[in-house]
Amino acid sequence: MIEDVFRAHIQPSRIFANRDALSPHFVPDNLPNREAQVEELSKTLAPILSGRKPENVFIYGKTGVGKTAVTKYVIRKLERFAQEHNIPVRSVYVNCRVHDSRHRVLLKVTNAFFQGENFLGLSTSHIYEKLLQALESGIRLIIVLDEIDKLKGLSETVYMLNRANDELERGSVSLIGISNNLTFKEALDPQTKSTLCQKEMIFPPYNAEELRTILEERAKIAFREGAVDSSAISLAAAYAARQSGDARYAIALLLRAGEVAEEEGANKVTEAHVKKAREKVEEDIVMDMIKALPQQEQIVLLALARITLSRAGIKRLGQNDTVITSGELFEAYAKTARELGVTPVSDRWFREYISDLDMYGIIRTTPAGKGFRGNTRIVKLAVPANKVVSVLERIFLG
Ligand SMILES: Nc1ncnc2c1ncn2[C@@H]1O[C@H](COP(=O)(O)OP(=O)(O)OP(=O)(O)O)[C@@H](O)[C@H]1O
Ligand SMILES: [Mg+2]
Repeated sequence: MIEDVFRAHIQPSRIFANRDALSPHFVPDNLPNREAQVEELSKTLAPILSGRKPENVFIYGKTGVGKTAVTKYVIRKLERFAQEHNIPVRSVYVNCRVHDSRHRVLLKVTNAFFQGENFLGLSTSHIYEKLLQALESGIRLIIVLDEIDKLKGLSETVYMLNRANDELERGSVSLIGISNNLTFKEALDPQTKSTLCQKEMIFPPYNAEELRTILEERAKIAFREGAVDSSAISLAAAYAARQSGDARYAIALLLRAGEVAEEEGANKVTEAHVKKAREKVEEDIVMDMIKALPQQEQIVLLALARITLSRAGIKRLGQNDTVITSGELFEAYAKTARELGVTPVSDRWFREYISDLDMYGIIRTTPAGKGFRGNTRIVKLAVPANKVVSVLERIFLG
């Protein structure tokens, strides 16, 4: 009954007390196993309170190891403390994946001081002058450049922001750069490197035990009392530890496990729910990856998924399980592209795409061998075809 579907949403959950505590946007009140990093960053920034400009900091470590969480936590506390003591400390958090050029970063930072004003159309140097003007009153600014490796024109950006310190009579600008790209720092030019990496912090991955404490803390807020087995938490922690010690993955897994338990009408989350959740989370990751692929590769995938679905129908009717060759897929791809109003690429490019998709693990290809023309390959989708079709049709057809 459709009403049952609706009813489930007005009834209080048997599993969750506060599901939002497991959302990626939740900012926890404390960060277990990051006490040392919190302290180190606090000590590095603290001189700002007595008017000395803190060293610029470069933080790196793999994905999901708490770089953003720790930085936001410390900055927030510092700003609050400064406010209580009437010290003009301000911070601006910039995600460089969104604000990915010098101009955009400057716009974002400067806007924080001129709320409601529109700087669109102004030149970069003009906006920079505005920023200096804002800081002139003695404001000590900390700029967090998160995912800094995504920033185009990084050297110019760092140079310009840092130069403010020479131009300001009062006030200062300090930088915190964050990256999960471990080779990024080495690729920096010497001057940028020495400016940005006055102080470096490396965040190690979490081990299973650390992830378990993180999850336990979070579970206390997120779940009803007794609604999650501690063995389920341990299992989620163990899976995430294997997944390069990523706390984001661990938390996502626990959320999914809770949802699976809920859908099944269970009273508590068990190991079995975590196992099922893992399959779903892996699938979510692949789907996110598919959403981010270049358009032409998406069209190749859409064509492949559609053929796969239609073949599944044939198979059920008792006919041969026919394989899909690269040649066939190329035809289908070209047809799908034209239907979508996109000009298909040549066979040469098509083969590049196939090998990309294979490398990502979204498809599997093997040489077709005897009886087929030259370099024909057998192509197989490695993810559920119906999911791929629904994700991509939403993108292309709205
Ligand atoms: N020590 C911790 N205690 C509680 N929660 C944590 C801890 N470390 C990380 N988290 C949580 O895990 C998730 C990922 O952490 P965070 O966003 O800080 O990772 P990151 O190192 O910035 O990763 P990325 O490089 O992918 O941006 C967040 O939801 C964060 O709240
Ligand atoms: Mg981050």
